[in-house]
Amino acid sequence: MKKADFIWMSGKFVKWEDAKIHVLNHSLHYGSGIFEGLRAYETPKGPAIFRLPDHMKRFFESAKIYMMKIPYSKETLMDATIKLVKMNKLEQCYIRPLAYYGYGDLRLSPKNCPVEVAIACYPFEYFNPKLVKEGVRCKISSWCRITSIVLPPEAKSSGNYVNSILANLEAKACGYDEAIFENTNGYIAEGPGENIFLVRDGALHTPSTESGILRGITRHTIIQLAHDLGIPFHERAIPREELFTADEAFFTGTAAEVMPIREVDGRIVGDGRPGPITKRLQQEFSEVIHGKSRKYSDWMTPVK
Ligand SMILES: Cc1ncc(COP(=O)(O)O)c(C=O)c1O
Repeated sequence: MKKADFIWMSGKFVKWEDAKIHVLNHSLHYGSGIFEGLRAYETPKGPAIFRLPDHMKRFFESAKIYMMKIPYSKETLMDATIKLVKMNKLEQCYIRPLAYYGYGDLRLSPKNCPVEVAIACYPFEYFNPKLVKEGVRCKISSWCRITSIVLPPEAKSSGNYVNSILANLEAKACGYDEAIFENTNGYIAEGPGENIFLVRDGALHTPSTESGILRGITRHTIIQLAHDLGIPFHERAIPREELFTADEAFFTGTAAEVMPIREVDGRIVGDGRPGPITKRLQQEFSEVIHGKSRKYSDWMTPVK
């Protein structure tokens, strides 16, 4: 990964190399941390962070689900995030706030461990640009998405992501770019780190929140943009075969942005190229995140 100069750690800006933790950190052993993923983009007014308050809201909601008390206010963490991007002099970057139970006790109960918070940012490219243009090849995972009677998919907790890692490893081992999860009821849920959409007969469809998904902030953005463009939209249970016969399909996420899907389990989606609705939404999304949409300028928090 590419480094930046500073990381915010429990109230202080420390040098990248000095942002260290003890090996008996509770969250390292049990995945008991919670985190967020955000991005800052270059805009005509300098770098700006996309939907910062919404990401911080979800950060605190993830903590609430896990009964973790974050020892800072949302405002303090938002302020620290803005200062951090500024100090690192990055025009564009990925931002990773993390709250974790530190060193103190290795029993399962984290109550004797301090809650620590760190925020890092760094230059970032998730999928290679060729895939963004041409689309990814996906495999329906043999692993099901976690379900709320086991682990809450709506919380962005570190432990949830071992499920995602298993699916991603399997997809890569089978020669695919990315996995797609079904839920335990056999309907499409999401990707390991992305929400999923399909297009059929000019309408947009995505698994509903009952499908066991993270309420993606990019997902919400795309639903809003589709609404503005007059694209009919449906949130519902989607069986896997609908992906095989869809006209278009794509992932959404902070890291993936709007990523076309060109193949699922050996079936070519549409004509195997990003379709017109995917491309239109990619373009609208790009305008919003680069501060070119007046309507959504409130979604951008300027850094300077
Ligand atoms: C499991 C999962 N689903 C969906 C998403 C997309 O969410 P967002 O658009 O808020 O990044 C992510 C990424 O955070 C994720 O990890």
